Amino acid sequence: MPLLLEVKELEKVFIKKTGSMFKRKKTDVYAVNNISFSIRKGEILGIIGESGCGKTTTIRMIMRLMKESNGDIIFNGKNLCASSDSEITKIRKDMQMIFQDPYDTLNPGMRIVDILMEPLNVHESSLSREGKYKKVKEITEAIELIPAEDYLQRYPHQLSGGQRQRIAIARSVILRPSFIAADEPTSMLDVSVRAGILNLLLDLRDKFGLTMLLITHDLSTASYMCNRIAVMYQGSIVEIGSTQQIINSPKHPYTKALVSVVKDLNHFIKNREKMILDGEVDSTKRASGCIFVSRCPNQEHICHSKLPIMETLSENHSVACHFHQSFHENLSQEMEHLST
Ligand SMILES: Nc1ncnc2c1ncn2[C@@H]1O[C@H](COP(=O)(O)OP(=O)(O)OP(=O)(O)O)[C@@H](O)[C@H]1O
Ligand SMILES: [Mg+2]
Repeated sequence: MPLLLEVKELEKVFIKKTGSMFKRKKTDVYAVNNISFSIRKGEILGIIGESGCGKTTTIRMIMRLMKESNGDIIFNGKNLCASSDSEITKIRKDMQMIFQDPYDTLNPGMRIVDILMEPLNVHESSLSREGKYKKVKEITEAIELIPAEDYLQRYPHQLSGGQRQRIAIARSVILRPSFIAADEPTSMLDVSVRAGILNLLLDLRDKFGLTMLLITHDLSTASYMCNRIAVMYQGSIVEIGSTQQIINSPKHPYTKALVSVVKDLNHFIKNREKMILDGEVDSTKRASGCIFVSRCPNQEHICHSKLPIMETLSENHSVACHFHQSFHENLSQEMEHLST
């Protein structure tokens, strides 16, 4: 399949102000640090990683809600980083985003029918009101709020959290985009409705031929949904591979730690315990050695002084670790030990 999205050497550095009023200090936060990946048409790529590793910053740059510090984002052959605002407005019809909290993104003063009508008013203004209403009704049925008339006159607060997220999804697909970026679309929802939303996204992918970028901190959600998974740690991608490769044959010690705490990947809708590794992520230091060194149980001298580069292991599978081969046999046991 041809590529729909290519992210090349993307970086975001924030300036964080710290200190007292009299002794101001500026620190660079390397939120996203030289990441590259691509998504093929029809594919779902997951990005997983713990809080603060740069997932939302990545998605916001791709969706042009934030400017990059460096790098390129090529969508359908067009470099978004070199596109004008008016070009981006046109492209936006074809790339839409689903946010974590539907309550934040649906205008509480508008009825559902008007919320869904809004993108059509902007991008398909020549369509008659009846034509737009027909599309609104169709999409409401596609997101399984049936009969649509029962929901369209309501306000967001008159819907449950899951129903609100369905409306947010409907709004993002009503213009039939080719690409959807979803930032933790189920993490604010009740556990009981999460599976329904994930299955809806899979159905819509099939129905509308969507390509997706899915951000989650939950490996079981990623394994259920995604064709490929990129594992992010402290602003960098440390491993990327097919879902099978990541789950069955993880090579980076951090990926191994993630996999080891997810005891039963089939029960993806259950609440997961947080991964337990010593130490914390610190994005203010630009590492000279491996970014994972402070938490890695198998570190050697070289890990402190040399940044491992991404190494291609097989088709689709790459990892950034000096010792991905030598210790991979016994590491899972150690990680198991670390996470209990
Ligand atoms: N506007 C900002 N100004 C300064 N620092 C920021 C800003 N936005 C994000 N950061 C920092 O960038 C890093 C990455 O943040 P980001 O929100 O992308 O992480 P995340 O992986 O989405 O985390 P979470 O899982 O908690 O949503 C963090 O250290 C965060 O504090
Ligand atoms: Mg986030």
